Amino acid sequence: MQSQIKIAPSVLSADFTKLGADLADVACADLIHYDVMDGHFVPNVSFGLDILKATKRATDLPVDVHLMISNPDEMLPAFIDAGADLITFHMEATAHANRLIQLIHAAGRKASVAICPATPVCMLEDVIEDVDMVLIMTVNPGFGGQSFLESSAAKLRRVKKLCAEHGVNPMIEVDGGINDETAAIVAGAGANVLVAGSAVFGKADRGAAIESIRTSAQNALLKKA
Ligand code: DX5
Ligand code: ZN
Repeated sequence: MQSQIKIAPSVLSADFTKLGADLADVACADLIHYDVMDGHFVPNVSFGLDILKATKRATDLPVDVHLMISNPDEMLPAFIDAGADLITFHMEATAHANRLIQLIHAAGRKASVAICPATPVCMLEDVIEDVDMVLIMTVNPGFGGQSFLESSAAKLRRVKKLCAEHGVNPMIEVDGGINDETAAIVAGAGANVLVAGSAVFGKADRGAAIESIRTSAQNALLKKA
């Protein structure tokens, strides 16, 4: 049976001197999460197109590109060309979300929109029927290793309600502070794609860390059923 919960290790917490080996360590995951930061939309700079191409060469898993950049309208085509399988841009960063979703779909990729902790769920109202996934930030974007924001659980329940009202079922991704404990909270509240950076790459056995997060999330679902 295919797992209902998908785990997406975040490359941001990998050791960049041995990216290929670190990606091989997380081959049992479902997606690879790739954080692009521009030093403008968020107060940090990460990596861009060339490292994405290298990541694509080093893994068979789909790559989930999270654009934390101020100008997604200009940069999106380049990330499509570099091989992003699923692309998330922030609702706070564009006036043209609908156009960007169309552009991603026209390229045959999956489209997703993200909202920061202070952005209300109603921002998703007019895109929820068009996207493959929504990303609910569970920390303020910009850095790995931050603590999960407790307010996220109630927010996820509001997202689930919005999806039900529209009769759609996009993937619901969470990003930031996810570990064994918080995985249970977010899965119980409706998330089914869990990004984890430090809780995976910070462990000696990355495969075991992924399975442990997955099990914790799945157990929370069983408890709810
Ligand atoms: C934060 C990034 C995350 C980050 C998560 O802005 O979007 O993807 O890598 O790292 P952890 O899991 O360590 O909070
Ligand atoms: Zn991210």
